[in-house]
Amino acid sequence: MNNLLSELKRGTSESHTLLEATYPFNTLMDKTQFSTQAYQHNLMILASFHHAVLQYIAKNPISGTIEDMLNGPAIIEALKQDLAEMGGVTQLPRFLSLPSPAHPSDTAACSYVWMGSSMGARQILKWLEHPEYAHLPTRYYQQMGRCGSQWARFRAQDIWQALTCTKQQTRCISTANLLFTGLRETAVALTTGHPA
Ligand code: HEM
Repeated sequence: MNNLLSELKRGTSESHTLLEATYPFNTLMDKTQFSTQAYQHNLMILASFHHAVLQYIAKNPISGTIEDMLNGPAIIEALKQDLAEMGGVTQLPRFLSLPSPAHPSDTAACSYVWMGSSMGARQILKWLEHPEYAHLPTRYYQQMGRCGSQWARFRAQDIWQALTCTKQQTRCISTANLLFTGLRETAVALTTGHPA
């Protein structure tokens, strides 16, 4: 296993656990809590995250190969269509700011959180395939499944070998955690109407 990728997994695991425990993420794969509205909120938060990351990467390019793996335009389109099918949204929630000026560690962190989220997405898609949820659009999760199939290739990219010094690695982990915080804060702000 690449060192930075193992460190990222370890260094963000607490944030991931916290996010999974936050509404609306905590309703996914839980029949007793799940609702159409929670699913719509989930897609809105994720749309806000994917938009922010894609804009950031467009301004601070990472690598053509990684950008292809992110499957950005297809993910954005899938979210747009899924949300439209659920009644549409006038405005997506605002996502927190990312570090500026950007460093390759930041763009690497963005790609890690994006690609890593495809791991959970694959499980969620499987759960949504239950007939009870046949009315819910799943284009987003299907597209994320494609990212998931690129996971081994993503892990083999040069960037993980290139970011070797402790300072770069610490920055990468901290930016990844910032993204998790952003997701959580966006979720809280959307559902309570107040910043976290
Ligand atoms: C309820 C929602 C979610 C569930 C159930 C879930 C579940 C999972 C699972 C099962 C894994 C794989 C763990 C492993 O095999 O080691 C994973 C990894 C991961 N997920 Fe999530 N996830 C959820 C939401 C998210 C979100 C919203 C994001 C970010 C946008 C995210 C980012 C990640 C990352 C970065 C990894 C780490 C990949 C790695 O380093 O191996 N997850 N998730």
